[in-house]
Amino acid sequence: MERLKDKVAVITGGANGIGKATAQKFITEGAQVAIWDIVKEKGEETAKELGNNTKFYQVDTTSFDQVEKAAQQTHQDFGKIDILINNAGITQDATLAKMSIEQWQKVLDVNLNGVFYCTKAISPFMVEQAYGRIVNASSVVGIYGNFGQTNYVATKAGVIGMTKTWARELGRKGITVNAIAPGFIATEMVKSIPEKVINMLEGKTPLGRLGQPEEIANAYAFLASDEASFISGATLSVDGAVTI
Ligand code: NAI
Repeated sequence: MERLKDKVAVITGGANGIGKATAQKFITEGAQVAIWDIVKEKGEETAKELGNNTKFYQVDTTSFDQVEKAAQQTHQDFGKIDILINNAGITQDATLAKMSIEQWQKVLDVNLNGVFYCTKAISPFMVEQAYGRIVNASSVVGIYGNFGQTNYVATKAGVIGMTKTWARELGRKGITVNAIAPGFIATEMVKSIPEKVINMLEGKTPLGRLGQPEEIANAYAFLASDEASFISGATLSVDGAVTI
């Protein structure tokens, strides 16, 4: 089943983890994929591994200048942009007492400004063609909060707010905007968490395990497909029921 046949998707943070699994899934579903990522070597390697329907663009999404240029270039290369997956994200954890201003700012730059910049640069192409699908990466912690993650939680809650605002602003232009809220997924991001804490998280998850990147990729693909044509402004939890 090719649910994304002939669609062109930009996936930020597509070189690694969930973004890479999403690029892979989208190609299986018939899409052409522009991977936008800050890391050059890994980005090129991923694009090569995924084959002819993938192209890598080195973009730092915290720079509006770079994002605008990449949007123009991607549109020129593929002829259109139908789907934007705002997936790039980072953590720099510390308690409120210990968090530096730099840590606070850096996480806001990537997880909040980056999402705003990419959507601002790409949505005009979607408006012009009266079609678009935007899916943003939030997190369960954006809904529930988390110890030691003031910066990250602020951005992931902010993403839910932006999702609802853009769903209102862009709905009549044929564009849906949704967010996903993953639970704990086995990627590099989670590898920095001590094993003891991972065991505790698995214990707290009714499905009894961490999620796999492919399980988030499936949710992105659904929300990016026409099966989700009347879903907009939603935040879909993909978390093994850890939050119920
Ligand atoms: P990851 O660390 O494996 O991959 C993130 C990618 O984003 C990397 O390829 C990195 O180079 C790229 N990136 C970082 N800064 C960038 C920038 N300024 N410009 C362009 N690219 C940049 O992370 P993972 O786990 O795949 O996470 C993907 C998204 O899912 C993130 O937004 C994360 O916050 C979110 N998420 C992840 C969860 C998890 O448990 N892994 C849970 C909930 C949400």
